[in-house]
Amino acid sequence: MRHLMSPLDLSVEELDNLLDLANDIENNPHKYAHACDGRKLATCFYEPSTRTRLSFEAAMLNLGGSVLGFAGADSSSAAKGESVSDTMRVISCYADIAAIRHPKEGAALVASQKSQIPVINAGDGGHQHPTQTLTDLLTIRSLKGRLGDITIGLCGDLKFGRTVHSLINALIRYENVKFVLISPEELKVPEYIREDVLKKNKVPFEEVERLEQAMPQLDILYMTRVQKERFFNEEDYIRMKDFYILNRKKMELAKPDMLVLHPLPRVNEIAVDVDDDPRAAYFKQAQYGVYVRMALILTLLKWKGDDIKC
Ligand code: NCD
Repeated sequence: MRHLMSPLDLSVEELDNLLDLANDIENNPHKYAHACDGRKLATCFYEPSTRTRLSFEAAMLNLGGSVLGFAGADSSSAAKGESVSDTMRVISCYADIAAIRHPKEGAALVASQKSQIPVINAGDGGHQHPTQTLTDLLTIRSLKGRLGDITIGLCGDLKFGRTVHSLINALIRYENVKFVLISPEELKVPEYIREDVLKKNKVPFEEVERLEQAMPQLDILYMTRVQKERFFNEEDYIRMKDFYILNRKKMELAKPDMLVLHPLPRVNEIAVDVDDDPRAAYFKQAQYGVYVRMALILTLLKWKGDDIKC
């Protein structure tokens, strides 16, 4: 039995197979409509979520399974002081697979250690968000046709943005990927990403502050929200929150086939006038999130030894 804590828990080959399965699900949804009949997914969300929780639930429902869970720490026994480890041990008796989101880094890992069922990290604090990365990789591969040979700009809150941390970890395994890290000084990527992930693996990257400066060379622009909930004081957040606003005018600087991605939710960092640009792929990206989570649920249940027919 295997869990998913980080995108690196999957080898490049396993990841390729997972993305192939997601594409097959996209093209032949009926083939999978009963693959998880009688199975249950638990969604244990201690932090707010729209896309991740609902796309997990939609994924399991599309596979013929059912869902149970909670959507806030206040509505679970965490409010009474129960540990995530105990909670997950008990949920193992009620469900076949679980997705957990928690504000503390490492909480999903702790939850997985006593679990009898596969546990998926659906975001642990500012650390990792592997299923968003699977979504991002599926989107890039489906719309660009490749995961290597790209220059990708990551823009916004690179310090607290867990989607950025997971995506960098995953993309360095492909050939000829260059990163342009676009952030204000205070929101640069954490030291461990710069030193232990990028420099150590000799991955080309540059750090810039101005989006306009980076734009012309990018094949993909990955915008992110300033992570309000991870700031220590509101003043800093207010100072940073509108640092980048991508609008139609700035899009004129981009390549004609540059993709704009965003894990969503967006606040102000992408003006709505960009939504109609054919290069804006963030809503399509949210749709890919369902296919890839369907593929992940199927794969983890198969690895657990369940008799999944598809
Ligand atoms: C992201 C997250 O939760 O980290 N959202 C998501 O899962 N799609 C990004 C964010 O909240 O900014």
